[in-house]
Amino acid sequence: MFITFEGIEGTGKTTQIQRVREHFEAQGREVFLTLEPGGSRVGRELRKMLLHVDNSDITPITELFLYLADRAQHVARVIRPELEAGKVVLCDRFADSTVVYQGYGRELDVDLLRQLNEVAVDGLWPDLTVVLDIDPETGLERANSRNAENGISREEGRFEAEHITFHRRIREGYLTWAAMNRDRIKVVDATPDPDTVFERVLSIIESRQA
Ligand code: TYD
Repeated sequence: MFITFEGIEGTGKTTQIQRVREHFEAQGREVFLTLEPGGSRVGRELRKMLLHVDNSDITPITELFLYLADRAQHVARVIRPELEAGKVVLCDRFADSTVVYQGYGRELDVDLLRQLNEVAVDGLWPDLTVVLDIDPETGLERANSRNAENGISREEGRFEAEHITFHRRIREGYLTWAAMNRDRIKVVDATPDPDTVFERVLSIIESRQA
């Protein structure tokens, strides 16, 4: 099973992914946890380029191709082999991030992005995608306090520095895109406490497994 997790900053994605991992491991399944950008060896180099604040001159098209390159390598060298080895693969962000951030965020053509994603994923779409949804003000507050604690600043702060209107577009983009892909993409309200959010995530996963 291949499950991806999406959402704006500060939705508690990392916490939920950990809990899903524990859930599968308790069932005796082997889990492989990964992320984009940066899920492969080559991808980790691309991630540094993509997220460094000094690279604010990257054009939207350059950015797009770096994310797609990261994804193509990740699918071919990491995700597909891990699935073939029988593992459950959980991925923090995937193709939908490109549609939403580069499409609804940077205003590149959404249908073109869907086609380019087809090339990058080479037929390997997730069985299920969970979008954690939160009001952008609340999300950014959570992300900023987490960054202050962890000391994330110049190295990976490029997206956190975006204006609130960008994050609102991203949030709306996720909701629109999810509505267009109802079978695969499920939206979960990430406002409540982590236990409540996890209950909902789990019930979605269980109904998909059934
Ligand atoms: P990361 O620190 O991993 O973000 P988060 O903790 O919110 O998951 O940074 C990844 C950033 O890259 C995030 O802001 C979204 C962006 N992104 C894209 O714009 N397009 C993509 O295709 C992907 C995978 C990520």
